Amino acid sequence: MKLTILAGSPRKNGNTNSLLKAFIEEAEKLGAEYERFDAYDMNVHGCIACRGCQKDWEHYSCVFDDDFHPVYDSVMSSDVILVATPIYGWFCPGPLKNILDRLIYNSCMFYGEEKGPALFKGKKLYILCTCGYGPEKGAYVFEEGMKMYCKHLKMEYDGMLCERDLGYDKVFMDNEKAQHAAGFAAKILAAL
Ligand SMILES: Cc1cc2nc3c(=O)[nH]c(=O)nc-3n(C[C@H](O)[C@H](O)[C@H](O)COP(=O)(O)O)c2cc1C
Repeated sequence: MKLTILAGSPRKNGNTNSLLKAFIEEAEKLGAEYERFDAYDMNVHGCIACRGCQKDWEHYSCVFDDDFHPVYDSVMSSDVILVATPIYGWFCPGPLKNILDRLIYNSCMFYGEEKGPALFKGKKLYILCTCGYGPEKGAYVFEEGMKMYCKHLKMEYDGMLCERDLGYDKVFMDNEKAQHAAGFAAKILAAL
């Protein structure tokens, strides 16, 4: 099984990446094969709805020659996608949103002259996120959005680990959160 991690935080040693580190350590122990993409380190243009990707259902095509193509290839060859992100304005930060939007049009061949397949059908998606409010307030909108996203892409939404940040003056990461992240990794790998 292969996992693609789409990481959305701009803070290298911030809350989301600390939680993700604990997740990855456990996933590595369990022998997971994964590829990781950090949206803030990449140049991915926002989708412009030109539908250039809709003409060829067999091969990747996009009018932008940017850093998105390897992400598409990785998702295409993965069984599981982990979206690891802080919540910004009830959703994910912009650079990750660009990637999520590009994944819609490049995989859902519904928007051209002829109606085609959903290329990511059956892949599973999980969320690992951190936010300032409790999960029910801070991550609820994003989780609902990602549920709809999966339904549209004919993927399976399978669950979220969300941890609360109590503020810049408080230490975020602790053993309990590390255990949650390790348990989440074990749960994902066991489901495959
Ligand atoms: C621009 C910005 C917008 C934010 N918007 C929200 C929000 O809508 N809801 C929420 O619960 N927390 C929000 N937060 C808090 C972050 O989600 C939280 O601090 C998170 O743990 C930061 O993760 P990081 O260290 O990986 O950047 C926001 C933070 C920033 C910087």
